[in-house]
Amino acid sequence: NQIIPGLPEDQNGKQNGNGAGKPTQELTTRQGHPVVDNQNIRTIGNRGPATLENYQFLEKMSHFDRERIPERVVHARGAGAHGYFEAYGSVGEEPVSKYTRAKLFQEKGKRTPVFVRFSSVIHGGHSPETLRDPRGFAVKFYTEDGNWDLVGNNLKVFFIRDAMKFPDLVHAFKPDPVTNIQDGERIFDFISNTPEAMHMITFLFSPFGIPANYRQMQGSGVNTYKWVNDKGEAVLVKYHFEPKQGIKNLTQDQAEAIQGKNFNHATQDLFEHIQQGQFPEWELFVQIMSDDEHAELDFDPLDDTKLWPKEQFPWLPVGRMVLDRNPINYFAEVEQSAFGTGVLVDGLDFSDDKMLIGRTFAYSDTQRYRVGTNYLQLPINAPRKNVATNQRDGQMAYRQDIMPGLNPHVNYEPSSMGGYVEAPRTGPDHEPHYNARKVRQKIDRQNNFGQAGETYRNFEDWERDDLIKNLVNTLAPAAKPIQDKMIELFTQCDADYGRRVAEGLRKMGSNGQHGPIGSSESGDAVRAAEDQSKE
Ligand code: HEM
Repeated sequence: NQIIPGLPEDQNGKQNGNGAGKPTQELTTRQGHPVVDNQNIRTIGNRGPATLENYQFLEKMSHFDRERIPERVVHARGAGAHGYFEAYGSVGEEPVSKYTRAKLFQEKGKRTPVFVRFSSVIHGGHSPETLRDPRGFAVKFYTEDGNWDLVGNNLKVFFIRDAMKFPDLVHAFKPDPVTNIQDGERIFDFISNTPEAMHMITFLFSPFGIPANYRQMQGSGVNTYKWVNDKGEAVLVKYHFEPKQGIKNLTQDQAEAIQGKNFNHATQDLFEHIQQGQFPEWELFVQIMSDDEHAELDFDPLDDTKLWPKEQFPWLPVGRMVLDRNPINYFAEVEQSAFGTGVLVDGLDFSDDKMLIGRTFAYSDTQRYRVGTNYLQLPINAPRKNVATNQRDGQMAYRQDIMPGLNPHVNYEPSSMGGYVEAPRTGPDHEPHYNARKVRQKIDRQNNFGQAGETYRNFEDWERDDLIKNLVNTLAPAAKPIQDKMIELFTQCDADYGRRVAEGLRKMGSNGQHGPIGSSESGDAVRAAEDQSKE
């Protein structure tokens, strides 16, 4: 008597049509015509040639031929769930209204529905969930003011600080264009010329690069945003989700043992916990800084390769998020969901973080291509409030966008004939003032190594051991100049860090094999297996 999620239940809690009972609905075509034979195409005689007027067959097959849409260019493999966000009405000890007028945060106990999609980044839609990769943590809040998307990762920093570099970064991590295999040499060729990546690399090659599952990992907005209050005053903010389930990461060996048996373990873990009523929960914290350059810091608050030190900028709780409902249809809800950093509500704003601005273009751009012009009309993406827009038509437009009582002839604004009118302002706009030259330049306070070294020293011994092992395995097949450049960068982070990687590479000699990052396949395990087979 297995319960099938999403299948309607009768008044006794029983499901029909789950194999035990009788079917509840006769099959039709998508035109609504009854299907009386779903087994045989029409032929001239029962062995004969098929005819072109096989309409039912042609419709069935041609729809099947179009079942796939392009997968996400990054973050293709994912799992999603519905739930809610519950506000505390405060930010730490203070009323939240001091910093933001965003309605979802104001009232203690106020619940806002959410949809969350977790993901891995580099490989395709059915790739193993045990791979070393950042994990996506994207949250869509369906607020009364329209949607807010917080599109984050499990790791709190990123590889680069300028959006210009993103396509190159992704190309280096994606499979080689010739062999179609991910290759550590290509990755470290790029990274050895990208010193700002050292902090992220230090996290990625440690156990934090393979979270044990989606429930036991953190989420972070990574980029710097702003909060705006009812006076139009802004502060800089960073967002962090902390799992109530605790944080659990895997060593490379643990991940490989899981992968040998199950390459969907994270999706399965999330689905089954929710199905069994063990709802995962996260607390949402913010860090706040005044909205200026902070010359006193040795880093720039708009630089996403940096952590804001907790001692100076404490984590202030603002609410909690619970995931309590699985999707009914993976494609409709998870695959077609579309998150973007431009999707903010009143009281939330962009900072000048150069990555954030670049991201804000990329998301809706890719979604118009990946899902279609009218991706915002799909139920998973549509706001849970009236949409009153003159942006009409386009492929697959199905909403009529005409409200009862309004003049259906008016699809423009302004008009005196009864169309949509502009909404009233809810408070003064935040209007930052600029006085600078327009340039193409790096930021001043790059400090590429300081925090990476601190992160290295803050790891526990087993985490540091795993980090070194994974780096050595991945770097082993790389050309000597790339290895040397990387050792130099690790040494700048921390002398012990550089020394250990150099020593590991020396021991490995020229035995490294090209292959996926971190994998023991590319290093000592392959060697051990070969040695054994020779014996
Ligand atoms: C997905 C671009 C940086 C987190 C995507 C997608 C694109 C993209 C094109 C696919 C979206 C879709 O098909 O719906 C970029 C660019 C970046 C950048 C251009 C830098 C300039 C980041 C950073 C984070 C991040 C720093 C973490 C904070 C995500 C997540 C998804 C995603 C979580 C998956 C969203 C989902 O589940 O649908 N990104 N990204 N990205 N990105 Fe980024």
